[in-house]
Amino acid sequence: MVSPVDAMRRTFAAAFSGAVPTRLSRAPGRVNLIGEHVDYCGLSVFPMAIQREVRVAFRPRLDGLVRIHNTGPGFSTCEFIVEPDPAPGPTGDWGNYLKAAGQGLVRAFQVSRGIDALVSSDLPIAAGLSSSSALVVATALALLDANGVEIDRPALMMLLPEAERYVGTQGGGMDQAISLGAVAGTASRVDFNPVRVTAVPVPAGWRFVIASSLASAEKSGPAQVAYNERTRECAAALERVAATLSGTPPRSYSELLSRPNPDEWLRSARAVLAGPLLQRFRHVVSEAARVHMAQQAMERADLEAFGTLMNASHQSLRDDYGVSTGALDELVRIARGAGAVGARLTGAGFGGCIVALCDAAREEAVLGALGAEFYTPRNVCDLGDRLFTAEAAGAASVGSLAGA
Ligand code: GLA
Repeated sequence: MVSPVDAMRRTFAAAFSGAVPTRLSRAPGRVNLIGEHVDYCGLSVFPMAIQREVRVAFRPRLDGLVRIHNTGPGFSTCEFIVEPDPAPGPTGDWGNYLKAAGQGLVRAFQVSRGIDALVSSDLPIAAGLSSSSALVVATALALLDANGVEIDRPALMMLLPEAERYVGTQGGGMDQAISLGAVAGTASRVDFNPVRVTAVPVPAGWRFVIASSLASAEKSGPAQVAYNERTRECAAALERVAATLSGTPPRSYSELLSRPNPDEWLRSARAVLAGPLLQRFRHVVSEAARVHMAQQAMERADLEAFGTLMNASHQSLRDDYGVSTGALDELVRIARGAGAVGARLTGAGFGGCIVALCDAAREEAVLGALGAEFYTPRNVCDLGDRLFTAEAAGAASVGSLAGA
């Protein structure tokens, strides 16, 4: 039986004329438990890193060339020079995530050495589990390592979201922060401006089941326009409400939410917002409150309360934020019917996955019902990447391949 690391060595040698990789970076994906579509508003989120990850086996080069192969099916090899303004490939091209990491680091640190690298991943792609940010994080750690640059995690958590916007999605900072800052066995509240990661142990006996809607959520593809539109709508809603308030106008949602008299801005919002802007605003401010209540529920191991908040989050994402789909709603329904205390879409939506919370005693029933009621009727038998229980993983790392 060939170990995954030996398999990477062999594939690397085949791709790079017999060369040997010396280093390995790895970055976990994440499941967001609650706090959806609020990170780009600067508001706290509550994700958990998962056991599935992106691995980059690499060796530093002396020049600035980056050559990256991918063991996944359908990926072409990507080659580029580390430079501040690389020409992007077509929208959706995976190489754009590599270039995103490269240009972000060149701008911040003048890194000049490239890498020969091989990417392998067991993280489902475009599933709302942050495969793209995990790729950016793992690539960035590899490039920093190859250049001998040391940077503390919070600084990298600030730099990489900005770098990733190179691909055209105006994303927030949740995915990079949890991949870089997770602690095994815990979920985390992530705050922004400045970014902080606060670990909360996941109570024994809680199970988070992930189930794919079988529709990909290409945030750098078709969903990009809808995602970016949401970010603009949130900003526009805040601006309108802020303009009506007495005193110094709040410049961010956090400033708005921390004003002493919430009734004042709630009244203003109802007066000046209508249609989608009112709905987006309602989602953002209600989700912000749910994140804090969910953290407290996990701290006191209150499964029911956490699940109820997840259900409210899904409803808000479906009805006010418009990012759910029929398949996601169906998965949520099945999971709850089988005994999950809560279930919601996770990640950006528009496809991707749901996350369902249940007690360990209900785990098999929830997995079984999702299999029998959602996948079997669709003739989907290979469930390995589509239906699994998340394990709370630790943070991204880089080190010797020999020690991996
Ligand atoms: C994507 C983005 C995140 C976040 C989520 C929605 O995963 O990368 O920054 O906005 O969508 O919560």
